[in-house]
Amino acid sequence: MPYVEACVKETLRLYTPAPVLARQLAEDTVIQGRSFPKGTGVMVLINAIHHDPEIYADPELFKPERWLEGTPEYAADKQVPGKWMPFGEGSRVCVGQRLALMEAKIALAHVFRKFTFSLSPGQRPLQTECKMLLKPKIGVFVTPILRGE
Ligand code: HEM
Repeated sequence: MPYVEACVKETLRLYTPAPVLARQLAEDTVIQGRSFPKGTGVMVLINAIHHDPEIYADPELFKPERWLEGTPEYAADKQVPGKWMPFGEGSRVCVGQRLALMEAKIALAHVFRKFTFSLSPGQRPLQTECKMLLKPKIGVFVTPILRGE
C-alpha cells in the first residue's frame, strides 16, 4: 500500500487537477521588496511548484519512489514544506483530502488484484487540457489483462 500511495501522490504531482489556486491578501504584504495592498488577488501556481527542478530531481519523470523515505529518489529531492499541494494548503485546504486518497488506494488495490494494464494500441502520448481543472484531452486508453491468463 505505501507504493500505491506513492503512485497516487506522484500522479497528483505530475498531473495536478487544480494547477492554480486563488487567494486574497488578508493584510498589506511585501514580497521580494514589492508592496501589495490588503485585498490583492493572488494566483498560486501549484503546477509550477510541482515541476520545479530546484525541488524535484528530474521533475518530468514519473518516480513514485521519490515519496518513499530511504530511497535514492527520496534523497535526491528537496524536502521543503509546500512542495506538494494538490489539495491546497492552509485554512481552506481540501476537506476531502483523506477520503480522496483512501478511495483511490482502495480502488487501485482492488483492480490491480485482478488485472494488469497495458497501453492500448494507438494510444498517443498523453495530451492534457486545462479549463480550471486539468484533464486528459481525449482520454487514456488502456487494455485490461486478467491476472493469471
Ligand atoms: C483527488 C481528489 C481531490 C483533489 C485533487 C482536490 C483538490 C482540492 C483543492 C485544490 C481545493 C482548494 C484548496 C485550497 O484552496 O487551498 C479543494 C477544496 C475542497 N475540496 Fe477537494 N479535492 C479532491 C477531492 C475532494 C473530495 C473527495 C471532497 C469531498 C468529499 C472534496 C471536498 C472539498 C471541499 C468541500 C473544498 C472546499 C474547502 C474550503 O474552501 O474550505 N474534495 N479540493
